[in-house]
Amino acid sequence: MRKDVHRVLLDREAIASRVTALGRAIADDLESTGGPSREIVLVPILTGSIVFVADLIRHLPQRLRIGVMSVSSYPGRSLESKSALIHGSLPDDLAGRHVLIVDDILDTGQTLALVRRIVLEHHAAQVRTCVLLRKSRPRVEEVDVDYVGFDIPDVFVVGYGLDYNDYYRNLPDLVTLRPEAMR
Ligand code: XMP
Repeated sequence: MRKDVHRVLLDREAIASRVTALGRAIADDLESTGGPSREIVLVPILTGSIVFVADLIRHLPQRLRIGVMSVSSYPGRSLESKSALIHGSLPDDLAGRHVLIVDDILDTGQTLALVRRIVLEHHAAQVRTCVLLRKSRPRVEEVDVDYVGFDIPDVFVVGYGLDYNDYYRNLPDLVTLRPEAMR
């Protein structure tokens, strides 16, 4: 797999320290707005956020539940975000809940905007959003993000849960790939 890597954009140490800081910021906000008993529902967007969310929740001491949402926007070998499609069932019982939607990366904005709308339609009391990465590019849909790990250039990245054609999710660093690896 190493020969497929063009360059390491963010290494595992940089990711770990930023995820720790994000977790602390989220936990502090929850505590200051609702006290230590504030319960939240995390809605991770599958599949790209799995590694991020696994690390993030271990920095959140609050009582929390997880209700995943499965969305596809980069099917197969695509390097461009297609419009977002929801798959499978939605988390139930969101009414009156404090929800934190977690995604791996904000690109065109369509995925996060769609999931946010759906969560609001389920009458959540409050919806916040968190992404590990935010690409610097114009958004197709504007969406406010409350917590951002890193701002990155408009390049296609894999690793730490993110994939190309469903591969490379297991790389511990966030990397770009050589063009030959993306055929
Ligand atoms: P939108 O365009 O809806 O896209 O904001 C968000 C989803 O698209 C995927 N995505 C990527 N996946 N490398 C990836 O592996 C990337 O550079 C990339 N950019 C967007 C991702 O699944 C995200 O949830």
